Amino acid sequence: MFDLLEKKPVILLLLAAVVIMIGTTVTMIAPFKWINDPSQKIAGVKPYTPLQLEGRDIYIREGCNNCHTQTVRPLVADVARYAPGSTDGYSKVGEFVYDQPHLWGSRRTGPDLARIGGKYPGAWHYKHMVDPQSMVPKSNMPSYAFLKQPLDSSITERKMKALGFPYTQGELDAVKGKTELDAMVAYLQKLGNDIPWRKAAVAGPLVGDLKNPFAGNAAGGVEGKKLYEENCAQCHGKDLKGDIGVPLAELKKTEGEIFTTIYQGLDRLGMPAFGDTLGKEKVWKVISYISSRKGEK
Ligand code: HEC
Ligand code: HEC
Repeated sequence: MFDLLEKKPVILLLLAAVVIMIGTTVTMIAPFKWINDPSQKIAGVKPYTPLQLEGRDIYIREGCNNCHTQTVRPLVADVARYAPGSTDGYSKVGEFVYDQPHLWGSRRTGPDLARIGGKYPGAWHYKHMVDPQSMVPKSNMPSYAFLKQPLDSSITERKMKALGFPYTQGELDAVKGKTELDAMVAYLQKLGNDIPWRKAAVAGPLVGDLKNPFAGNAAGGVEGKKLYEENCAQCHGKDLKGDIGVPLAELKKTEGEIFTTIYQGLDRLGMPAFGDTLGKEKVWKVISYISSRKGEK
């Protein structure tokens, strides 16, 4: 039968076109219908506030989606990386009902941002947008310092109306006098936060003896210093005196308590978890370094 088809190019072409059309319908057109389908709504998912919506529009204007996706696929590796610690943190259809157009994107020069809300304190974003390398030394993200310019709020109300989003006069007034950067950070901090994926996160108890295997081992502290500078200094200060994060030299906690904080992070307070990225051994080395500087003012 296939022999026969190959000898009839026109029929082959038509049949191939039909097959491609079916594929296109299933993979492209159907999802477009699903995402804005009201029956997919999730109760906790809220429309954007005026400030968040302006931030979203700037995100589109600047083409952030050329480097960033906004969808965590239901693949183990994607979830582990972009919704760490959770098992069901992948993106749900209902999370995008207010996204017109959606910003799923297809290129990941930078990390996925679907779950960025609450990952860092707002202050981190302000610094990172103005000078990405000050927060992530090896970053190739360009600087967006110019977003410090005033936000044009002249048509904010019309945008809210066009999209049918609810808003209050107070929220509209709050947009006045803000910068584009304020709007961008408000938008980023909302992303992915409407469903409680973090609560489902497995912050399982750390079992075993929480004793530093590098206690009294100077080499551990030396490597810990390097790890500290790469992973912690941007928030806790190069000299441990605190910045976005709290000062660490004055901590009155046991090493075991500090280990738990670093390993599991402090959800929603902006202290990321390092258990997955550093692993136990490196976390202990960082603690050795912190302990070696204890009491410094
Ligand atoms: C040229 C590609 C590129 C563009 C354009 C770009 N970024 Fe990035 N972005 C990156 C890379 C690479 C990283 C990872 C390193 C870092 O954190 O700086 C990143 C990181 C981030 C992070 C932190 C993510 C995390 O989980 O740590 C945020 C937030 C972010 N970008 C927002 C934006 C916004 C908003 C825009 C548009 C105004 C933008 N980016 C434009 C490449 C880009
Ligand atoms: C994105 C910024 C950021 C980074 C990076 C970061 N931290 Fe934090 N960290 C914070 C913030 C913010 C807090 C305070 C949370 C709160 O309000 O209690 C904190 C809290 C802590 C605490 C708890 C202090 C206490 O009072 O119990 C420890 C310990 C700590 N961080 C250690 C580290 C170490 C070690 C690293 C590097 C491996 C690190 N942090 C990286 C932001 C950060």
